[in-house]
Amino acid sequence: MTGGRAIHNLALVGFMGTGKSSVGQLAAAQLHFRFTDTDELIEARAGKTISSIFAEEGEVRFRQHERSVMEELKKCHRTVIATGGGLVANEENLDSLKVHALVICLWASPETIWERVRNQSHRPLLQTPDPLAKIRQLLAEREPFYRRADVLVNTELRSVKEVAHHVTHQFRQARGHTSDH
Ligand code: S3P
Repeated sequence: MTGGRAIHNLALVGFMGTGKSSVGQLAAAQLHFRFTDTDELIEARAGKTISSIFAEEGEVRFRQHERSVMEELKKCHRTVIATGGGLVANEENLDSLKVHALVICLWASPETIWERVRNQSHRPLLQTPDPLAKIRQLLAEREPFYRRADVLVNTELRSVKEVAHHVTHQFRQARGHTSDH
């Protein structure tokens, strides 16, 4: 599946609340890789928070910010890249990640996601009267995109540490099948 690709990074994709940032930081430590996060890159470039970008510029503009960080990511080496939950709903973004990274999708059910995010307020898409319904709707819409990842990892009933171990194992295995180290 990854034969012929230059796998020198590990990209984590998946819905909000699936643990991309926490798993990613742990996996980066285990692999002795750097860690980066597309939302943080966007915030640094724009000089404002994701919430402010949504409020002041709108979601369409935010998606343009996401597309523009893809070029920057191509320069990464030995890096774990955590991505915003909607980034791979644009197929070009996923294809771009696959050029240099093994793409692993973290998965969880809508109910688990809701449990994990319900006390957080920094996600503009979930600032709605019925966030669980919104999670169900978005997850159903995005599932076909998430399924295009190289590896799908269910995070239900697994600790962050267990998921990180699983992810690094998958990464080492995939790299073993390529010439890129
Ligand atoms: C979004 C997910 C967020 C962030 C933005 C939009 C989405 O990232 O990019 O709020 O569309 O699912 P996390 O997945 O890190 O929460």
